[in-house]
Amino acid sequence: MKKTLLTLLAGIMLASTSVLYTSCQPKSGTFEIGDQKFLLNGDSFTVKAAEVHYPRIPREYWEHRIEMCKALGMNSICIYIFWNIHEQQEGVYDFTGNNDIRAFCKLAQKHGMYVIVRPGPYVCAEWEMGGLPWWLLKKKDIRLREQDPYFMERVRLFELEVGKQLADLQITRGGNIIMVQVENEYGSYGEDKAYVSAVRDMVREAGFTDVPLFQCDWSSNFELNALDDLVWTMNFGTGANIDNQFRRLKELRPNTPLMCSEFWSGWFDNWGRQHETRDAKDMVAGLQEMLDKNISFSLYMTHGGTSFGHWSGANSPGFSPDCSSYDYDAPINEAGQATPKYHELRNMLAQYNGGKPLPEVPVAMPVQTVAEFQMTEVAPIFDNLPEPIHSEGIKTMEEYDQGWGSMLYRTTLKGTDSQSRLTITDAHDYAQVFVDGKYIGKMDRRLGEKVLTLPSVREGAVLDILVEAMGRINFGRAIKDFKGITEKVEMTTIAANGEAVTTELKGWDVYLFPNTYEFTANKNYQAIADTKAPGYYKGTFTVDKQADTFLDLTTWGKGLVYVNGHCLGRFWEIGPQQTLYVPGCWLRKGENEILILDIKGPQDNKLCGHDKPILDALRNPVPASHREPGTVLSLKGEKPVLTARFRAGNGWQEQKFGKTIEGQYVCIEVVSNQKAGDAYTAIAEWYMLDAEGNRLSREPWTIQYADSEDKSRSNRTGDRIYDLQESTYWATAQGAELPHHLIINLGSKQQLTALQYLSRMEEGAPGAIKEYRIYVKDEPFTIVKE
Ligand code: GLA
Repeated sequence: MKKTLLTLLAGIMLASTSVLYTSCQPKSGTFEIGDQKFLLNGDSFTVKAAEVHYPRIPREYWEHRIEMCKALGMNSICIYIFWNIHEQQEGVYDFTGNNDIRAFCKLAQKHGMYVIVRPGPYVCAEWEMGGLPWWLLKKKDIRLREQDPYFMERVRLFELEVGKQLADLQITRGGNIIMVQVENEYGSYGEDKAYVSAVRDMVREAGFTDVPLFQCDWSSNFELNALDDLVWTMNFGTGANIDNQFRRLKELRPNTPLMCSEFWSGWFDNWGRQHETRDAKDMVAGLQEMLDKNISFSLYMTHGGTSFGHWSGANSPGFSPDCSSYDYDAPINEAGQATPKYHELRNMLAQYNGGKPLPEVPVAMPVQTVAEFQMTEVAPIFDNLPEPIHSEGIKTMEEYDQGWGSMLYRTTLKGTDSQSRLTITDAHDYAQVFVDGKYIGKMDRRLGEKVLTLPSVREGAVLDILVEAMGRINFGRAIKDFKGITEKVEMTTIAANGEAVTTELKGWDVYLFPNTYEFTANKNYQAIADTKAPGYYKGTFTVDKQADTFLDLTTWGKGLVYVNGHCLGRFWEIGPQQTLYVPGCWLRKGENEILILDIKGPQDNKLCGHDKPILDALRNPVPASHREPGTVLSLKGEKPVLTARFRAGNGWQEQKFGKTIEGQYVCIEVVSNQKAGDAYTAIAEWYMLDAEGNRLSREPWTIQYADSEDKSRSNRTGDRIYDLQESTYWATAQGAELPHHLIINLGSKQQLTALQYLSRMEEGAPGAIKEYRIYVKDEPFTIVKE
């Protein structure tokens, strides 16, 4: 009897623990593709995803931001996995602390949010090298994002690591992951189905076998790499003509669910360019239209946050480094606060919440101001040189096994008794030249600067070239972006007979400055006298609470800031960003340490903290125009090689010349617009085709002339027609008179057989061209005084 009672009791206990156990276990479910819809546990489901990036938010704030997304009316979170932050050294993986993607997904699950995972390997995202690790470049001839065996092996190992972290969080296994992306917008990089298939197989091998895999691209190029067994989703921005974006996809797959996997809420900022904003009304209208049409979406970005440390990337063609702030003009701003855009969107999304009220908007994190203070100690760069490494020829930063930071190339010069010319091929990204310690000038890669005039120098004069690397290019073929000096340094002198003599400089002592906190802290700091030298600066400031602030660097030159060991990001006097976001959770009540590496040196040694950022104070903007005031193009005597007209509407159009034409300069003459009433002309993208009918590389392109450019907004200059971004475009100023002229310098003489033109992607293709003429020349076109 006793025994039976005990057995019974034990049985009850076991049963109750198993009840307890099952009720604590998240329930498993399914996420599948249905007929024109997604199915969550068998029921129709519209994905309303908020794109946020875990490394752009301090871990302490993850939960707050997830709750902000939930209260906005979203049901999912979409994340990239940033390979290079997890594998900073080859083979050493870090998924802890701010890199703990598993904890991030679980936090989302705690708040009932599903997760879409985008594990690259390439992610773009205005992130250093688009997420690829720099050390791949130690194999100089590596083919990135192609079937290079070494590249593929490293991708595979990384994807397997991601799988170890996340595969068991797929919805079928009790987690909240509902979709996984394969590669990222591969169509704007190339055409290589075999490569995309191989990445897909690795993602599967990593264990992502239970939820739909998808690939995202633009409507104009998704067919290039579309795999039969993946879901195809489209990326486009605020204002786009949505029906048109899905037209081709619907033709090819009438039964597929539709999803805009990146609907751009705003846009990112670049150093030296105007701050970007996008209209809230257009964004809300686009999202509402999609909801009404049962189209799923991910709002990129819902909260952009900050590219802390050295993680911001750079855009190309050309070199246009991204700011540290990734505010993005998103509904939730950089500091996690709800903006007016947030409330406008929330009001709309509240109507699509199945009749249930949305959760309350979480209280914002506290902010504070910090009274003006000064740095108290300095370690000038030139008084704190590390041990040099000798090399006869020039080597890149990667060849010295350094990923990020600065380096100094030093050699001695032969004496000259007149000026000479110094040519650096190429300095990546910002070089300052000194002779015998005296500053001579700089070469800014953004501006294509490669040559400096040197004064006459004594025999044995010391030439110093201090090169600072910014973020590696994250877009297009130029992601293979070596840092330091990439090829050679030459000096051109004029010989007695008047001939120019160019010699390559050799015999370099190279000093390396990695940008880590330890390297910065471990310097011989001295009390600041009256110095404005390039150097490391040290100081403290006091706060009485742990609240966010925006550190004002308006009077500082260019460099990086560390607060209590955390690297806040880059600053640069040119703007538009003038403050750096300091999360309160990184501050201490009382004294806080601050270190600044300023490679130029400050104008004034002072700092303070504001309760709002300064993101739109631009100094020395990149020329916003391709026309000297008072000048005009003369086409006198020129004959068009083509006179034609485009059809109305969105989408790409191609026009053949009917023969091969040779030349370096192409002038587009816009004779009329599609709509007579259009107050301006616009071109989103433009290509020229070569003798084989292939698109010419646009890397070397520049604009010789544009008769008119809309300066009231950023991203309306002539060079936007070859920036590989369909959502940015050349636009003439409102009301400027036809005909319009835009002249492209192709960089060298080319064989041309056709052109391709893309009108704006917005409904009705505003500013679309009707009649036009093309002129081609070997020489620049003639520009005369008005
Ligand atoms: C593309 C990329 C994103 C991001 C956006 C622009 O859509 O896929 O990673 O770079 O452009 O912000």
